Amino acid sequence: MANLVGAITTSHVPAIGRAIARNLQQEPYWRPFFDAFAPVHRWLAETRPEVLVVFYNDHGLNFFLDKMPTFAVGAAPVYSGADEGWGLPVMASFEGEQALSWQLIDALVQDEFDITSCQEMQVDHAFTLPMALLWPDQAWPVKVVPVCINTVQFPLPSARRCYALGESVGRAIRNWDSDARVAVMGTGGLSHQLDGQRAGFINKDFDLRFMDSLVDDPKWATRFSTHELVEKAGTQGVELLMWLATRGALGSSARCLHRNYHLPISNTASGLMLLEP
Ligand code: DHB
Ligand code: FE
Repeated sequence: MANLVGAITTSHVPAIGRAIARNLQQEPYWRPFFDAFAPVHRWLAETRPEVLVVFYNDHGLNFFLDKMPTFAVGAAPVYSGADEGWGLPVMASFEGEQALSWQLIDALVQDEFDITSCQEMQVDHAFTLPMALLWPDQAWPVKVVPVCINTVQFPLPSARRCYALGESVGRAIRNWDSDARVAVMGTGGLSHQLDGQRAGFINKDFDLRFMDSLVDDPKWATRFSTHELVEKAGTQGVELLMWLATRGALGSSARCLHRNYHLPISNTASGLMLLEP
């Protein structure tokens, strides 16, 4: 059976891609952000996951407002990025782990999640930038399975539902007939709001409480409705649903090996956690 070795959660701001493209990692603005990934790089070098399941939200590249699945699972042989209009270079494409894709799809449908399976799928900055943060040389040593959760067009799935989705994914990984080392990643958040009267909104108290909760009380945030989460974390801060799904996949108890919280990165309070079951 496959071995679920750990989880990484991180923010995914397009400006990170510009900083990488311009080699600004050691500039004063960026250094605290990029340096925080060093312990993650060491963990990846030691643990050597072979497969990575990535919970992220598409922002309009693969799904647009005309067709918006609540949950979508990639089952493609390969995933590519594309120009989203941020002016970022397109990275090398990502090899899919199709056997695990279908294992997840079967298990999620069995668990009564009505998912969309995608045998062709483009991945946007929410997928590609965290990959480049984990592997700065952009030579991907893992095969991937993208799991996309709608946080773009209301109505959004509830925090409780996203946690349960993650639990189902975690079980399916552990039941996969493979000896692969599998890690999970969740990208997005933490608090930020890009539009409206509260543009620029950040809630440090909430973010820190949320990060604490992922270790000692992982279902804490599932008590909040989507609208309460928007109120607390901002319209785009609801991307923290990806962190909840990731934590759900890890199982009942987890220990935190590393965490970082730094703001602002663009309009976003950026968070990073490395967890092991
Ligand atoms: C920003 C944050 C995001 O999560 C995103 O998808 C796009 C932009 C930002 O803070 O600029
Ligand atoms: Fe985003």
